Amino acid sequence: MLPSLLVLLTLMPHAFAINPGIKASLSDKGLKYGSHVGASWLLEKTGQMVIPDVAGEIDIGIGTVHYWLTSMKISQINLPEPTVTFMEKVGIKVSMENLNVAVHGNWNTKFSFIKDGGTFDLAVINVGLSTVIQLGSDGKGHLSVANVQCSSSIGGIDASFHGGGSFIFQPFVHFFKSKILNQIQEKICPGIEKYVNDLESQLEKMQVSFQVNRNLSIELPLVLPPIIQSSDVEVDLKGVFYGARNHTDPPFAAGPFQLVQQSDLMLTVGLSEFTINSASFAYYSAGLLQILITDDMIPKASPFRLNTTSFGTLIPQLPKMYPNMLMLLRAYAAQTPTVSFHPDTTTLNVFVSTKAYGIKPNATYIPFFRLDMNATLSSKFFISDEKLSGSTALDNLTLTVGATEIGPFQTESLQKLLQIGIKSYLLPLLNKKLKDGIPLPTVHNVQWVNSMLKVNKGFVEIATDTKISLQAAKS
Ligand SMILES: *[C@@H]1O[C@H](CO)[C@@H](O)[C@H](O)[C@H]1NC(C)=O
Ligand SMILES: *[C@@H]1O[C@H](CO)[C@@H](O)[C@H](O)[C@H]1NC(C)=O
Ligand SMILES: *[C@@H]1O[C@H](CO)[C@@H](O)[C@H](O)[C@H]1NC(C)=O
Ligand SMILES: *[C@@H]1O[C@H](CO)[C@@H](O)[C@H](O)[C@H]1NC(C)=O
Ligand SMILES: *[C@@H]1O[C@H](CO)[C@@H](O)[C@H](O)[C@H]1NC(C)=O
Ligand SMILES: *[C@@H]1O[C@H](CO)[C@@H](O)[C@H](O)[C@H]1NC(C)=O
Repeated sequence: MLPSLLVLLTLMPHAFAINPGIKASLSDKGLKYGSHVGASWLLEKTGQMVIPDVAGEIDIGIGTVHYWLTSMKISQINLPEPTVTFMEKVGIKVSMENLNVAVHGNWNTKFSFIKDGGTFDLAVINVGLSTVIQLGSDGKGHLSVANVQCSSSIGGIDASFHGGGSFIFQPFVHFFKSKILNQIQEKICPGIEKYVNDLESQLEKMQVSFQVNRNLSIELPLVLPPIIQSSDVEVDLKGVFYGARNHTDPPFAAGPFQLVQQSDLMLTVGLSEFTINSASFAYYSAGLLQILITDDMIPKASPFRLNTTSFGTLIPQLPKMYPNMLMLLRAYAAQTPTVSFHPDTTTLNVFVSTKAYGIKPNATYIPFFRLDMNATLSSKFFISDEKLSGSTALDNLTLTVGATEIGPFQTESLQKLLQIGIKSYLLPLLNKKLKDGIPLPTVHNVQWVNSMLKVNKGFVEIATDTKISLQAAKS
């Protein structure tokens, strides 16, 4: 029993492994740009950086000098660009050399009953740092980070004390130098470790499910640990939309797909047709894909009214059976509308049923018939000027009688009318919008640059460069 249970447990991750619906990849160029922005941000922040006070004591043979270094501020910093690279199968390696920092602050000493104080300038020269941040996932779909390697070095230190009886004090400066040097050096790696641990606990708390609108949420946990190669890191996310009121998995599964790396761009996102169709399923199963059509919704100028008189030209027996009676249509998706991606083409298949009723003067409804429409639309999409553009055409539309309470009738002329309506009214409206372009969704501080879109078999890939503005980040 136990061995078989163990076997089952070891097999479980595979048994439950699912294909990601969304993949995102950050290239080496993206990583370098990110670290450049990060370093500029850090440099801007150094002015406000609070350096903790230092207190200590030095045994000078004839007694102990207590000292305090307070109100320390960075007066000058030379922060070279860090070298940030992907470390295959591990994570990210960050190293920096030749960091120089000058600090100005106050000093106080107490030797027996003698108190003294003044200001000081301290320069820490040639600080070097090398650290490896491991990337993984925590099993609950969060990204995890860990500091797995860290080393630091300090080239030297220069200190000068001003004011007070510092000439008495100056001889002991070399004691301070080595002591402070050790103190700083001892704090660099633990400081980084603490920073990474804080980041890790923030990541642990991050939500992986997001409300999209009142009717839709999306789940974005990692389904695999990040895949780190020497040229990029890829994250594979579940990418399933759910209805807000009904958390039912769609009755179809994601297929595998592989991003086509755009190494000359920073960021690549692949969106599978599965993810899009899960949204469609959520709307469909929540009964949101339906509409009631009444006569007052038809433009006043239209000669065609929603009544049996008008329908008489298409269904001759209708006005004979129910003369001049207003009608009501209930159109609803009878199946989940499905999007499929093919190289350079996106197709949408909809199966819409429409039930027609007559409205009696006492407001009861008489069922007339049900028409089933099967339509396929195909679109070409591209991105230009950071706007989604494209065009859509009607490929095919068939109309069949699904049920009738008024006897058999022909659908050919109705089908023609519908095709003309879609081609000459609906699609021109849509295509005008697509021609003008729909701006890409913006994230604050982030601008999309050189974005491109490519539709492949089963997924759409969007690759882009970004421009992050620190100016906006501060407000
Ligand atoms: C959400 O569903 C309600 C009906 O329950 C509908 O009126 C509303 O337009 C929908 N909102 C969105 C954003 O789909
Ligand atoms: C949720 O949706 C599924 C699929 O449409 C349906 O079978 C199920 O009854 C629904 N559950 C609830 C609680 O509405
Ligand atoms: C029905 O439509 C015809 C036009 O086809 C119109 O003349 C007539 O007044 C309409 N009847 C009702 C009841 O709306
Ligand atoms: C409406 O009128 C029909 C007869 O034309 C009758 O059968 C039906 O019961 C009436 N309904 C109501 C709610 O009065
Ligand atoms: C709709 O039409 C397409 C072909 O145009 C066909 O593959 C599909 O099965 C049809 N759907 C239904 C529900 O008849
Ligand atoms: C349109 O649909 C009909 C019936 O499903 C099918 O026979 C025909 O081949 C389709 N035409 C195109 C262009 O897909």
